[in-house]
Formats: sequence, structure tokens, C-alpha cells
Amino acid sequence: MTTRQRPRTLWLGRWGFVLAATGSAVGLGNIWKFPYMTGEYGGGAFVLVYLACILAVGIPVMMAEIAFGRRGRGSPIDAIRRVVRESGSGAWWSLFGWMAMLCGFLILSFYVVVAGWSFSYLWKTLTGGLNGTSVDDMAMIFAANNANPWHLGFWSTLVTLLTMVIVGKGVREGIERSVSWMMPGLVIMLALMIVYAAFSGGFSDGVAFLFSFEVGKLSSEGLLAALGHAFFTLSLASGAILTYGAYLPDQRSIARTTVSVAIADTIVALMAGLAIFPVIFANGMDPASGPGLLFMSLPLAFQAMPLGTLFGVIFFTMLSMAALTSAISMIEATVAWLNESRGISRAKASWGAGSLLWVISTLAMMSFNVGSEWTLAGKHVFDWLDFLTSRFMMPLGGLGMALMAGFLLRHEIFRSELNLTPVQHALWLFMVRYVSPLGIVLVFIDSLGIVTLDLAAQWPWLLAILVAITAVGEMASPRLKRQLSE
Ligand code: TRP
Repeated sequence: MTTRQRPRTLWLGRWGFVLAATGSAVGLGNIWKFPYMTGEYGGGAFVLVYLACILAVGIPVMMAEIAFGRRGRGSPIDAIRRVVRESGSGAWWSLFGWMAMLCGFLILSFYVVVAGWSFSYLWKTLTGGLNGTSVDDMAMIFAANNANPWHLGFWSTLVTLLTMVIVGKGVREGIERSVSWMMPGLVIMLALMIVYAAFSGGFSDGVAFLFSFEVGKLSSEGLLAALGHAFFTLSLASGAILTYGAYLPDQRSIARTTVSVAIADTIVALMAGLAIFPVIFANGMDPASGPGLLFMSLPLAFQAMPLGTLFGVIFFTMLSMAALTSAISMIEATVAWLNESRGISRAKASWGAGSLLWVISTLAMMSFNVGSEWTLAGKHVFDWLDFLTSRFMMPLGGLGMALMAGFLLRHEIFRSELNLTPVQHALWLFMVRYVSPLGIVLVFIDSLGIVTLDLAAQWPWLLAILVAITAVGEMASPRLKRQLSE
């Protein structure tokens, strides 16, 4: 038996981990992507499929990540190295830890630009800078906002600074303290917005858009979108959840905390839809996703409505907080690593990491103005960062986590960390070994466009593949089987 790692820090409060991990999970994905996907791909039918993906792919991988973090008690690099060593496997598996840490860092370097948009729109709403009468006017304001590097850079720098100040203060004093008021604040603001939306005159249209059950709209594209989003929305494979897991006390149930985070994340995403779409429909606009929804349609809608400025301020405050609580989780892995492995104080580690982050994020910010010509294969710095992280690093990292947990590592580790009943454990193992990897590979293949997937027609094949790899995998791992039945 190996002795367990002693934790350096633990979450102080009972809800510390759940609040921080929900803060990480709840971000732009919940607000500008999920509600739109739901409306687009069949409402209630899509929500059900999405929940199935959360259950089959999101929750099992998240449990594995938290178990890695808690067992190894450290940054992704150190934690994975320790867990792998405890299992007697090669140290090079900790490359997955490097990749996760780098992935979080790189996501943050373009995320601060987007968070900067949110902060600057909060300021514009407060100071009356969003006067326009059409979506075109709003598009011009958005373009003008991006065109000036000093202006845009000011906001992304501000977000970088806020993030580094919070993370530099430490896990309890910085992260836990800030999420413990920002997360409840965010939910209260969303609830206020839903009440406002209920009086906007578009509520029933909004509800119908979100929840009408249309199985016919649930295309293959919708299924794959649900699968990919389940992964992205829980902030998996980017070091955030693993590092937060390193601060989880031993007696807390990993399964229960994971399910709480997944439920909270989904509720916030549905609430965002209920807050946004009624306002859009009340003003006779078309639903959309992405920057156009948040920075063009919605501000225009608020302008036309009573108390619009007040609710615009509430909305952009809420959005800024959602972005900030995600931002801090993306850099925590790097700061924890510098602190533990390199012996640099948290404050210094935070400023060091923040400086490098600032350089890369400034390059990303310049994609919208002075650097608009700096392209490689038709993509700007900003687009490259997004492409590399969400299309490559996250799927590969997730696959690595799932396969390491499922096949490579000593099974006893996960049995004692997860502490499930035998049936639950067998189910988790099946998911992490076969179902999650297959799901990740499908999304990967689809996003690379190698093969055109049509799940509605191809599902019998996929089922056959799942059965086949399960049979082969189970035959090939008798050692693990023996351990499991001990
Ligand atoms: N979960 C975040 C959202 O829904 C996005 C995200 C992806 C993320 N990977 C992350 C956030 C890593 C923090 C850390 O918007």
C-alpha cells in the first residue's frame, strides 16, 4: 500500500468545491451557446439527449479527473505523475497533465478577450454608449469597439489583472471567497432577469422555443453538438477540474459532488435561455448564438424596453461574473504547478503566469484590429487558439484521462477514491472505458470532417462497434477484471 499524498490546501467550506467547479463550468458556453442549441435542435428533445451525454460522457470523465486530482494532490502534471507512479506505469503519461495545463492556459488567453467584451459592454450600458436603432447599428458599435487596440486591450488587461489578483490570493482567500459570493449573485441576477422576461410579452414564445418537444429537429448534427457541449460545458480536460479536485477533502463523495456540479451547470444554462429568448422574441428578433446574440441583439432589445438599462446592467454584470469565475479556474493549474514544483510563491507565480498570459492574450486581442492580417492558413491568432484547444487538446486530453482511468492505472486507486457500490462502479468503468472514449472519438472525427457522420442512419453500426470494443477490451484486461472481483 502506498501512503496517500498529504494535501497542501483544502477547500474551507462544505460547498467550496461545488461552488468553484460550478463557477468554472458556468461560462459563456452556458449563456451564448446552450440556449441557442436547444432551440435549434428540438427543444425538450435536445435537452434529454444533452442530459444523456452529460450522464454517459461528462460525469464519468469528471469523476475520473477529480479522482486524479485528489489522489495525486497537486497540479495536473504532479498529480498525474504521482498516480501513474503509484500504479507502476511510465512517467511519460504525465504528458497528459502538461497538455491539460497548457490547454487551460491557452483557452484563457482568448477567453479574456471575450470576457473583456462583456466588461466593456457593462461600462457602455452604464454610460449610455449603446445607442442604436437596428441590429446593423449594434454591429457597427461592436466593430468599433474591436477596432481600437488600446480600447479592447484595456478591457482584456483588466480581466487578466482581476484574474491574477484573485488567483494570487490563494485557494481559500482568493478563489473560494470570490466564488462564494459571485455564484449566488449570478443565480440571483438570472432569476431577476427571468422575472423581467416573464413580463416582457415574449415569455411564451421563449418557452416554446426552448422546450417544445420536436424529435424531428434532432438531427445527427444536434446529437454531436450535445456530445461536444457536454464536454466543454463541464470544463473537462483543461486542468481546471483536476486541480480543484486536488483540494477536495477525503471524506467528500466524488460522485455526489460531480452530480451537483452537473445539475447546477445545466440549471444555469436553462435559466439563461429563459432570461434571454423571451426578451429577444418580445422585440420581434431572430434568435441567434454567439457574440451576435449577446452583444448585438440583446442590447438592442433592452433599449426598446422599460427598465432596459437596469436589466442590461444586470445582464452584463452577470455575464462578466460568469466569465471571471471560469477564468480563475483556467489559470489555477499553472499557478499551482509553479507554486508546488518550482517553489515560487503563489503571488509571484500568479504575476509570472499572468504576464505571459497577457502577452498571448494581447496577440489574440490584436486579431480584431492591428493584427487582422496576421493569419496562418486563414486563421487569426484568436481563431487558432480556439481551434487548437477545443478541437484537439480537449478531446485528446479527455480521451487520455478516460483511458488511463479505465485501463492503465491500478484499479484499487479509483475504487477507493470513488467509493461506489459494485454495480455503480462497474457502470462507471464501462462508461470510462468504452462509452466516453467512443463519444469523444465521434466528436473528434466529426469536427475534423474526415467522415460525414449521420448518427440517425449509422447508429446500428456504432452500437455494433461499441459491443465489439467492449468485448475485446474486456478480454484483453483480465488482470483488471481479477482485481475488480477481488
Ligand atoms: N465551461 C466553460 C463554459 O461553459 C468553458 C470552458 C471550457 C472552461 N474549458 C474550460 C472554463 C476550462 C474553465 C476552464 O463556458
